[in-house]
Amino acid sequence: MSVIILGIESSCDDTSAAVIRDGVLLSNVIASQQVHAEFGGVVPELASRAHQQNIVPVVDTALKRAGVAREELSAIGFTRGPGLLGSLLVGTSFAKGMSLGLRIPIVDVNHLHGHVLSHFIRRNEDDRVPEYPFICLLVSGGNSQIILVRNYNDMEILGQTIDDAAGEAFDKCAKVMGLPYPGGPHIDRLAAEGDPKRFRFAKPHIPGLDYSFSGLKTSFLYTLRDEIRKNPDFIEQNKADLAASLQRTIIEILMDKLDKAVRQTGVTTVAIGGGVSANSGVRDAVADYCSRRGLTAFIPERVFTTDNAAMVAIAAYYKYLDRQFCRYDEVPYARVKV
Ligand code: KG4
Repeated sequence: MSVIILGIESSCDDTSAAVIRDGVLLSNVIASQQVHAEFGGVVPELASRAHQQNIVPVVDTALKRAGVAREELSAIGFTRGPGLLGSLLVGTSFAKGMSLGLRIPIVDVNHLHGHVLSHFIRRNEDDRVPEYPFICLLVSGGNSQIILVRNYNDMEILGQTIDDAAGEAFDKCAKVMGLPYPGGPHIDRLAAEGDPKRFRFAKPHIPGLDYSFSGLKTSFLYTLRDEIRKNPDFIEQNKADLAASLQRTIIEILMDKLDKAVRQTGVTTVAIGGGVSANSGVRDAVADYCSRRGLTAFIPERVFTTDNAAMVAIAAYYKYLDRQFCRYDEVPYARVKV
């Protein structure tokens, strides 16, 4: 009999539902919340309210697009954390209620595991998936981690940021340039037309596999301040070069530690995940690096880089196969490590 999982994701500002049958994706619906744009960041209370409005139609659409009746579902997977508690509560409560009504189990998913396991989402049965062990560079607005993935439930953080995440570096520097939030995609777009060698910004010198991005942020800010003093139109006149140089620096920082991790572990497969893995430069750099070193690269489809329920459904699928269900008295958590 087929295993059909409904996945629900509501950890931040995207309400998403997805259906997978035996590991193959049937539907993935994402409702992104526009309500936060004018505030320059996600407003938690508005996010929970929007999830409440979106969750029923989003789940309904996911089931319809999949051509699956709710009675056919084997289990419901949901993001239990980390994320915004109010947002997580909406998805968690919905999953519990629906599972009680249908008398099927619920499976809780760690959002970060979901990002890592997004490479196991198959659109067709013969799509390739990574072989364990592999390294995943998880880079988002809240995380910058190098993870050694031994199995779907066995992940070790080899290195992580000691201050800001890579996404924050993109967003905060973009803000200094007067770009809208989130700035990462704007930097990506501008960088395509700029000279990446035009400006030099500080890079961290910390031992091991940990990251740091706060020094780069300060160096970017000071460079701009100095230049604006001499020429008030400096940013406007140099937007593309600034974006390209910033992006190059972030990529160099990311790749330096990723290379160290690959050498240390001797793995032959490298994957990337999280919002920043949508960045064209990051994707090219990882693909290039892997092809030069004869490694297998897994670069996710862009729709699976940001928050989505397909990754929750696939993570829940593996737990379901191992009968790892969630109790009804389990509650969401805001913070956790991988
Ligand atoms: O994984 P994600 O959706 O959620 C958080 O963990 O917050 O990641 C969002 C982050 C933001 O910092 C955003 O600017 C960044 O991913 N991002 C990008 C790009 N697309 C999204 N950064 C650089 N280039 C992009 N194309």
